[in-house]
Amino acid sequence: MEYRLDDRTALITGSSLGLGRAMATAFHAAGANVALLARRPGPLEEAKAAIETQDGGQVRAYPCDVTDRRQIEDTHARVVADLGDVDILVNNAGQSQTGVFEDITDEVWQADLDLKLFAAIRLSRLVFPGMKERGWGRIVNILNTAAKAPPPRSAPTSVSRAAGMALTKVLSGEGAPHNVLVNALMIGSIKSDQIRRGYEASGSELSFEAYVARAGARLPMGRVGEAEECASVALFLVSEAASYLTGCAINMDGGVSRVV
Ligand SMILES: NC(=O)c1ccc[n+]([C@@H]2O[C@H](COP(=O)([O-])OP(=O)(O)OC[C@H]3O[C@@H](n4cnc5c(N)ncnc54)[C@H](OP(=O)(O)O)[C@@H]3O)[C@@H](O)[C@H]2O)c1
Repeated sequence: MEYRLDDRTALITGSSLGLGRAMATAFHAAGANVALLARRPGPLEEAKAAIETQDGGQVRAYPCDVTDRRQIEDTHARVVADLGDVDILVNNAGQSQTGVFEDITDEVWQADLDLKLFAAIRLSRLVFPGMKERGWGRIVNILNTAAKAPPPRSAPTSVSRAAGMALTKVLSGEGAPHNVLVNALMIGSIKSDQIRRGYEASGSELSFEAYVARAGARLPMGRVGEAEECASVALFLVSEAASYLTGCAINMDGGVSRVV
């Protein structure tokens, strides 16, 4: 089955690299206009240029730090002016942030909540009323498997992500009567820039590919996931094919999670 998003406008945060870029590429190929958001203009422009080489809708890039409320509001207004009302929102921007509980300062907690929770709250607040009015909308929150079963030393990320899961459920209930569907993808281990940064910080003598293969060998499927595999599930969620699916937190982890 082919999933089409013609005439839809999708805003995807953190879409210059990794999962966000793969989702933007897939949505664009399905016909959507895509708004790419990230902080650094360089990788954003690279992503835009690469996506524009394929057939699809329009592509626009917006440098925006999603931890800053004013930047979110200004960028949303520019996206609506350029591409029309946002039909699809993917709250994806994030980064790994974990440590020993007593070492995590208030500042680190607040920064993590700003990036992973408040950005999603603020963007959802901007797009949700219009989606309800138009009777069609999709929000996908990209979270982490640790939200469902937080292991030791997984804060603050696992706590921020658990709040994102609750936000997903609240919005899905309020959106359901208006055909605004809200779901979450609980990410396990997907090859991306985040994984590359972990590799570089590790000082490993292995090649990046060997490092990723070793990490994957410990997983049930024997490999880490590819960003495109995450993008194809996200494409399904935002398409008409998922028209009766809302309020779910789907493990996108190759079977790692011990909870459903
Ligand atoms: N890959 C995994 O295995 C994995 C596992 C669990 C959860 N996740 C989650 O999945 C999401 C995507 O991860 P990824 O692996 O694709 O990460 P990535 O390769 O590091 O890409 C992160 C993207 O987010 C952007 N970003 C970061 N901070 C931002 C901010 N304050 N404002 C706007 N954009 C920002 C980055 O661009 P700039 O730096 O230029 O802003 C980049 O485009 C994240 O939320 C991550 O926490 C990933």
